[in-house]
Amino acid sequence: MKLADVSIATETQSPSVPTRQASHRTILMCRPEHFTVSYKINPWMNPENPTSTATALAQWQTLYDTYVGLGFDVELIDPVEGLPDMVYSANGGFVLDGKAYGASFTYPERQPEGPAYMDWFGANGFEVVVPEQINEGEGDFLLVGDVILAGTGFRSDSTSHEELARIFGRQVITLKLVNPSFYHLDTAIAVLDPVPVDGHSNIAYLESAFDEASLTILRERYPDAIIVSEEDAAILGLNSYSDGYNVVIAARAKGFEKQLRERGYNPIGVDLSELLLGGGGVKCCTLELRR
Ligand code: ARG
Repeated sequence: MKLADVSIATETQSPSVPTRQASHRTILMCRPEHFTVSYKINPWMNPENPTSTATALAQWQTLYDTYVGLGFDVELIDPVEGLPDMVYSANGGFVLDGKAYGASFTYPERQPEGPAYMDWFGANGFEVVVPEQINEGEGDFLLVGDVILAGTGFRSDSTSHEELARIFGRQVITLKLVNPSFYHLDTAIAVLDPVPVDGHSNIAYLESAFDEASLTILRERYPDAIIVSEEDAAILGLNSYSDGYNVVIAARAKGFEKQLRERGYNPIGVDLSELLLGGGGVKCCTLELRR
């Protein structure tokens, strides 16, 4: 977060490491005022264990402050009582070219979040597209350069990938997730370059989260990807958010932190341990708004 890091990073880099450029980001977040774990829809959630809303709020605030400190525009949606997962705003939709493709959640517990987010998009100048297919927004859809990587296997139905392609007129690449602990695409892939560098946007990913066909696609398209360890992925280390230079990651993802530094990025660790009890991390709490 220290601005001084910019000059230090460039001075110590080897010539083969590209100079990273931060880009301005606009995002949507939701304060975890009603956060708790009262149902189980992923392996991380254990309703029998206590959670602390106060801790969740304090940790979330650190993430919010970090983003503001990086110069991002952070917009807020009002949390709704009885929707404890609403803090994971990445699932609220997928927003590109001023259009917001609404979410249609897999599990009934989260279904009311779909309309709540669509109302916000409509009231904030986005053209809202009401979804016909089951999809969990940016949790499963990641814009990488000009293609959209789309996850399926646990939450978003593959039919939503066709819907997505139709709505945004972009190439959508289907990837199949196979490990229930990495049930959303954003738990298994991190987008490192929101703006392409020399025509290419790079990613980081966890190999074991994907089936063979998906791995073949990933290896072919991203030969220089950062391959993250099981250990770092196991604390949702991949669930991170990059502006092209600063990468906000789970503070405990030490291996990933080192890999990012070696590539010229500036990793910034944030502790979201309480929100991890709901099965979410940094990226889950962050929805990109592309107007
Ligand atoms: N408890 C939430 C669920 O299981 C966590 C969502 C995490 N969000 C994400 N983008 N990975 O739906």
